[in-house]
Amino acid sequence: MRALSEPKIVLATHNAGKLKEFTGLVRPFGLEVVSAGELGLPEPEETGTTFEENAAVKALAAARATGLPALSDDSGLEVDVLGKAPGVYTADWATLPDGRRDFGVAMEKVERMLQGVRATTPDTRRGRFVATLCLAWPDGETQFFRGEAEGQLVWPPRGADGFGYDPVFLPDGHDRTFGEMSAEEKHGWNPGDAHALSHRARAFKLFAETHLMARP
Ligand code: IMP
Repeated sequence: MRALSEPKIVLATHNAGKLKEFTGLVRPFGLEVVSAGELGLPEPEETGTTFEENAAVKALAAARATGLPALSDDSGLEVDVLGKAPGVYTADWATLPDGRRDFGVAMEKVERMLQGVRATTPDTRRGRFVATLCLAWPDGETQFFRGEAEGQLVWPPRGADGFGYDPVFLPDGHDRTFGEMSAEEKHGWNPGDAHALSHRARAFKLFAETHLMARP
């Protein structure tokens, strides 16, 4: 597998929540990172129908624009009883008519739909967060790393930490939502650990084990 030869990468995201989490995950490795937002790169349109396609769109756009390897994240929430919706449209469910995003509105929409199919017991409210990372080089080569975190949707929202749908997601084996956890608890992973908790930390662990942990 092609190695990451440069000590610098672009984080191909304009999402402040994701950027904060990646900054924490990357910190122990001393890798120099700059975000697509900081560089003023335009946000490409996510035209794909899978997490992989959308992750590739974002990473390739950033790699080609900068001449550096770029790491993107396409992620979302899958709710089993809703046919895995919102899935790749997770961010879109928060988009208001004026273009702004409101995740309170999005969480209410998920809850309304769960109530609509009478999903009121924990076993009927199962779902997962998915994160697909794409590492792309300026010449078009891509590699993918996927992580999933299983859990259940709770109502009302709990906690003010994290971002997006964190306050309604209770990961399996825990009694606090992602919104009630610090970023470190949500990652549940430090370099060398065998397991991670969040979908993003699970995907990042695979990326780090491939590209960062064997670095001289
Ligand atoms: P996209 O990857 O830009 O399509 O956006 C994915 C959306 O999924 C984000 O805007 C969040 O709303 C949601 N999402 C992804 N990861 C997380 C997470 O770790 N916590 C809460 N919401 C998330």
